[in-house]
Amino acid sequence: MKKTKVGILGIGAIGSVILTGLCKNEHLELHHFNRSKKEMTMVQFHDSFYTISLDIKQDIYIPLKLDWLIICLKEHQFEEAKNLFQKLISRKTKIAIIRNGIELKEPLLPFTKEDHILECMINCPTQPDKNQVYQQMGNAIITSAQMDLANDFQNLFKNKDFLFRQVEDLKTESWKKLLESASLGAITCLTGETCWIFKDEKMKNLYQKLLEEGIQVAKAAGAVIPFDFVNAMLEKLQAYSKEKGSSMLTDRKLGRPIELGAKNGAIVSVGKKYNIETPLNELVVTLLSKTNAKNI
Ligand SMILES: NC(=O)c1ccc[n+]([C@@H]2O[C@H](COP(=O)([O-])OP(=O)(O)OC[C@H]3O[C@@H](n4cnc5c(N)ncnc54)[C@H](OP(=O)(O)O)[C@@H]3O)[C@@H](O)[C@H]2O)c1
Repeated sequence: MKKTKVGILGIGAIGSVILTGLCKNEHLELHHFNRSKKEMTMVQFHDSFYTISLDIKQDIYIPLKLDWLIICLKEHQFEEAKNLFQKLISRKTKIAIIRNGIELKEPLLPFTKEDHILECMINCPTQPDKNQVYQQMGNAIITSAQMDLANDFQNLFKNKDFLFRQVEDLKTESWKKLLESASLGAITCLTGETCWIFKDEKMKNLYQKLLEEGIQVAKAAGAVIPFDFVNAMLEKLQAYSKEKGSSMLTDRKLGRPIELGAKNGAIVSVGKKYNIETPLNELVVTLLSKTNAKNI
């Protein structure tokens, strides 16, 4: 039986978790692509420890004619990866993009047809420990729109630890996640503090204002944000442990570029498109872009 050729582009935290879901499927021929050469990647999730050998290809001279390309890059890494898209995507290649943010298809549209691209949101906190083992803190939950392409994608996985959700309105789901993560991320990242900071009423008010500013943009872009969304987010905030951080805070602490273009930067740029002012998010982008510039 002919194997399905699957490429994974970006073998960091999420790319490695995705590999744990694919490596048990013997009907797949896996191809690894990453900026740096690595011999292996390791993932720990509860009692399961995965050591996955890698054969990273960096120079691609002959078309691989992949059936699937799964892209696990951060938003700011797409520009540099463009030359690879050209080499890895053929007319038949289906693409799954797994990353934070909105309008995920956009950077891929010059390379393929829109209906070949599956946008995926992933919920799966994963960070490398001091031994470079990726510590996966929960089941991987992958959310996409309801479509045949999503069923095909799901069928690649043979690991019961993966949960798949197909939703009717992915745009709204993505905006809700973005509103929360950009607002919470901005405050934790700028203060350098975890969620204990929201015991302070001023911080809670700022969180609310950031949410409200983003909601105007989300609605203009067509997301259906319920009238009680802000209250629900404030209640959720109360329930967070005081140690909870955010990916923006983690990136800053580790000296890595912050995914601004997928967070507050996305709110600012969509706001501009619809003539909606976003002064708070602009301030966040201005301040944090200096941190990014230093790290890059
Ligand atoms: N980690 C999480 O907990 C988590 C949770 C939910 C969502 N997400 C989202 O998932 C996406 C991926 O995040 P991540 O945490 O997996 O990032 P990551 O650990 O930084 O992994 C990115 C990988 O892409 C590689 N890469 C970068 N530029 C490249 C290029 N031009 N060509 C080939 N490979 C390239 C990097 O290679 P190097 O080895 O050279 O750096 C790295 O291995 C992001 O949008 C993130 O927000 C992450």
